[in-house]
Amino acid sequence: MDAFSKALQADTRTIITAPVIYQMKDFGQLAEQFGLGERDVVLTNEFIYKPFMESFNIPCQYVFQEKFGTQEPSEEMIETMYAAIPYDSYDRVIAIGGGAIMDLCKLLGCKRPASVHELYFKREPVVHEKEVIAVPTTCGTGSEVTNISVAIVKDEKDGVLTGGETKLGLVSDDIIPNKVVLIPEFVRTLPYRPFITSVIDALIHGTESFLSPSRKTITSEMYSVRAIELILEGLRRIAEGGEEARLDYLTEFVTASNLAGIAFLKAGCGTVHAMSFPLGGTYHVPHGESNYALFGKIMEIYEEYNPNGELMRFKEMVARILGCEKEDAIKVMNEMLEKVYHLKPLREYGFKESDIKDFAASVEANQQRLITNSYVQPWTQELSMRVYRECF
Ligand SMILES: NC(=O)c1ccc[n+]([C@@H]2O[C@H](COP(=O)([O-])OP(=O)(O)OC[C@H]3O[C@@H](n4cnc5c(N)ncnc54)[C@H](O)[C@@H]3O)[C@@H](O)[C@H]2O)c1
Ligand SMILES: [Fe+2]
Repeated sequence: MDAFSKALQADTRTIITAPVIYQMKDFGQLAEQFGLGERDVVLTNEFIYKPFMESFNIPCQYVFQEKFGTQEPSEEMIETMYAAIPYDSYDRVIAIGGGAIMDLCKLLGCKRPASVHELYFKREPVVHEKEVIAVPTTCGTGSEVTNISVAIVKDEKDGVLTGGETKLGLVSDDIIPNKVVLIPEFVRTLPYRPFITSVIDALIHGTESFLSPSRKTITSEMYSVRAIELILEGLRRIAEGGEEARLDYLTEFVTASNLAGIAFLKAGCGTVHAMSFPLGGTYHVPHGESNYALFGKIMEIYEEYNPNGELMRFKEMVARILGCEKEDAIKVMNEMLEKVYHLKPLREYGFKESDIKDFAASVEANQQRLITNSYVQPWTQELSMRVYRECF
């Protein structure tokens, strides 16, 4: 096992709940409670600012992410953001948006590095200096409670730029936001596709944390169980009542994705995330969707290899919520997911037959931190190839 996975398994904390978590009704309540004003930077999107913040006329410095680019954070985007928001112009950061904005706000709370590239390659220290308040507007990543900020950076080999790019996570407990405010109303404008794929991502966070063989604790299990229960019930309602059924259940979805984030910060994600990274990175499939493309198949294989153990407890939970026999739980859950969002074969994302071998090798080489958390141990390259082949 690699040193990083070993260190994670040796972590004696039973749970890491760094931020204080609030739930509020709107931006006005947040502004009043925290006394927002001119020394506060609000990082958000214009399409979230207009309906949810503008009318309160709170005199903060509003900065729209689209000014720097709408894609996932990159070295260039972060440099542009730094230039647009001088470090001495604010005391606090309030981030209101999806996972990308959550990741960006973590950097705004830290001392400016001489170079973003050096920061991500761990040659400059992470120094947290300003308070960060994170308000998620999607219900998936759980990034508002995690210690990681992901960015696309210029790739290096032996300290020399390769000319290519890669995705790297800056990891430090110092970048966990100080406060989290859940405002379920903010999710109302999120279109169905990013909504449902982010919810499925959160279901996978809960499931992988629940099945995590050595890093989970009784406490992390409590967070995953509640997250899974809430999400399955919400998905069941959408499967029966259609897309609009989500609108009466936003508080539960937002809370569940937050709980799942806390669960996986301790227990870790597993094979689904490991195998989804090459797919997302190569073919730019959004994170929740690339996880979904592999989730059902991986659960079937877990059942084939070890149907009892923790998976039996998972199936009992699914059976209780979806009203089926525990023996049928994985099949019924996958059928319900198909009803709420059509599962596409990998080739429809551009995946080629040769990727079956190449991606499996990449998972083996680069995702040990995640596959060491697999419910089936050891998770071999052959099993990865089988999943890619059967999802192809
Ligand atoms: N730090 C972590 O722990 C962590 C974990 C997983 C993913 N991530 C990162 O998070 C990002 C993905 O996050 P995401 O799934 O939330 O996607 P996202 O932040 O890209 O948001 C998805 C889309 O929905 C839009 N949107 C967000 N909220 C909206 C709302 N309320 N109404 C209308 N539109 C809205 C966004 O502008 C975007 O176009 C990636 O950059 C990924 O690397 C971070
Ligand atoms: Fe995820």
